[in-house]
Amino acid sequence: MAVYEYHAGLEGVPATQSSISFVDGQKGLLEYRGIAIEHLASKSTFLETAYLLIWGELPNRQELQDFQQEIQGHRRLKYRVRDMMKCFPESGHPMDALQACAAALGLFYSRREISDPAYVHEAVVRLLAKVPTMVAAFQLMRNGNDPVQPRDDLSYAANFLYMLNEREPDPFLANIFDVCLTLHAEHTINASTFSAMVTASTLTDPYAVIASAVGTLAGPLHGGAAEEVVGMLETIGTVENVRPFVENCVANKKKIMGFGHRVYKVKDPRATILQNLAEQLFDRLGQDRYYDIAVELEKVVSEKMSYKGIYPNVDFYSGLVYRKLGIPTDLYTPVFAISRTAGWLAHWKEQLGENRIFRPTQIYTGLHGIDYVPMDDR
Ligand code: SDX
Repeated sequence: MAVYEYHAGLEGVPATQSSISFVDGQKGLLEYRGIAIEHLASKSTFLETAYLLIWGELPNRQELQDFQQEIQGHRRLKYRVRDMMKCFPESGHPMDALQACAAALGLFYSRREISDPAYVHEAVVRLLAKVPTMVAAFQLMRNGNDPVQPRDDLSYAANFLYMLNEREPDPFLANIFDVCLTLHAEHTINASTFSAMVTASTLTDPYAVIASAVGTLAGPLHGGAAEEVVGMLETIGTVENVRPFVENCVANKKKIMGFGHRVYKVKDPRATILQNLAEQLFDRLGQDRYYDIAVELEKVVSEKMSYKGIYPNVDFYSGLVYRKLGIPTDLYTPVFAISRTAGWLAHWKEQLGENRIFRPTQIYTGLHGIDYVPMDDR
């Protein structure tokens, strides 16, 4: 058995073999099943991209139509899940609510043999269909309102915005949101996907797998960064304050949210597309005072840290897009989770295809042969 050296955070250590997506961190490339993210963002839809990720190829017209109808037929929640949400504190974070609801789904659907393709298919459809409904329902209920039922006649993206805002979205806005979902769907073996894989490798149910992944995505070093970025821009307040802010972060070795990446050592290609989406929104709906601060921040951080490969990541501009779409700040990460459910499910299926339970080793740094000291002698 070869002895491997320790790499903190498993940096650079392959944890699996996968054909789902590919990232070239030096060139800033991202491909889903070999197709460049720029092509999917401009030509595909989230649901078609989810199908590509999960089943490995683009659906034909009939396959996509069938998939769309299956999703529309599973968007509603069991009333008990809604009743459970009524007991959640309004002040609770929506990611905790989503994690609880995702795990709760497992109470309703038997843990049939996960080697049964029909069970796997049902779980994929249920989770993709219900995660948006859970996020929107918690938003309305924490404001004291009844959740609205999903609309079967609306697209995946339009239906989420409808359930969130209780009105049919402008198709232009729904399309912008759909592109955001495509951009966030998958990103090789990031922390939450790895969490999903480790959970999947014990052959537990897919609802527990997604609950594990949601909990992992919530952290500020991962999906939670988008929410932190807007708070940071608000704290900076003006373009003039940007340089002192960055110099303070550098001097105190403080991480700047929305920047840096374990893999990308150039600007995240998704950040470039999101920046363009933000500009399209501002052209149509009016400028956002934080955008100028964000652009200045990118300039100054590049000046100070590009030598370390610190550039904007996917979370840097996403919040400015979501603000314009009327999405509350603490829902940015749940929106990330809605999209990344597609990638997590793709890796769940791939893991089941050739599974071996994850059980890494360690380099022991403790002591041996220590005597047990009775309480009175301590
Ligand atoms: C996502 O993995 C994925 O694919 C994730 C994701 C996905 O799609 O799933 O892309 C989504 O999580 C994007 C990242 C969102 N997180 C943030 O924006 C939080 C801020 N970023 C950092 O915490 C950090 O960049 C990480 C966590 C993203 C990556 O950290 P690493 O690879 O562990 O890098 P590190 O902490 O070891 O830092 C290396 C150096 C350090 O400097 P030195 O000690 O060598 O002098 O770079 C510096 C760090 O201080 N650095 C930063 C920085 N990120 C790294 N300095 C200032 N600001 C930052 N944001």
